[in-house]
Amino acid sequence: MDEFILRSARHIAAEACGRVLKKGDVAVDATMGNGHDTLLLCRLVGDTGKVHAFDVQRQALENTLALLRQHGMENRAVLHLMGHERMGEMVPPPVKLVMFNLGWLPGSDKKVRTAWPTTRQALDTALSLLCPNGLCVVCVYPGHPEGEEERQQLLAYLQALPPQQYNVLRHQFVNAGEQAPECVLIQRQ
Ligand SMILES: C[S@@+](CC[C@H](N)C(=O)[O-])C[C@H]1O[C@@H](n2cnc3c(N)ncnc32)[C@H](O)[C@@H]1O
Repeated sequence: MDEFILRSARHIAAEACGRVLKKGDVAVDATMGNGHDTLLLCRLVGDTGKVHAFDVQRQALENTLALLRQHGMENRAVLHLMGHERMGEMVPPPVKLVMFNLGWLPGSDKKVRTAWPTTRQALDTALSLLCPNGLCVVCVYPGHPEGEEERQQLLAYLQALPPQQYNVLRHQFVNAGEQAPECVLIQRQ
């Protein structure tokens, strides 16, 4: 087993994906961006699995497709140029894992970013698609006012989830300041 390094919220997210996903699983990347998470999920589900990835920006699809092709994994993914709030139209249950990396596409227009009303809708759908023991992974970036607001709304949403149905774990780097990125895990029972 690889050494466990406590590095960042994204690292925790990747560790959780690695623990949950098996060859042949179906996973969703709800925020495709530059495709790094899509690539990770494609590796984990293997050539018998499938990854559905969503983004509202054509540039994100192009960047992700290029990255997947570079690694010979484009056949493992279905890329949707569509808001994640419409995930239910494209992805049938059961799904083993849904990943959200909130915020904006690095290196692009910061105005195109995730927004709570659609994130909330997508989270509702994601949780309804999960199989038993399936996992939803969310990284949130409170280092700017919109990200902080997103974190507050996300936390209120998570605190209201019924504990009989979901176990919810918040990973917070407690010595890195209030603005440090966080990773939240929601597991369906
Ligand atoms: C932080 S980036 C994701 C990073 C990405 N996972 C990666 O590995 O590079 C957030 C992405 O969410 C996308 N986004 C914003 N609103 C969205 C929505 N309603 N549905 C899907 N994606 C959305 C943005 O376009 C942006 O590319």
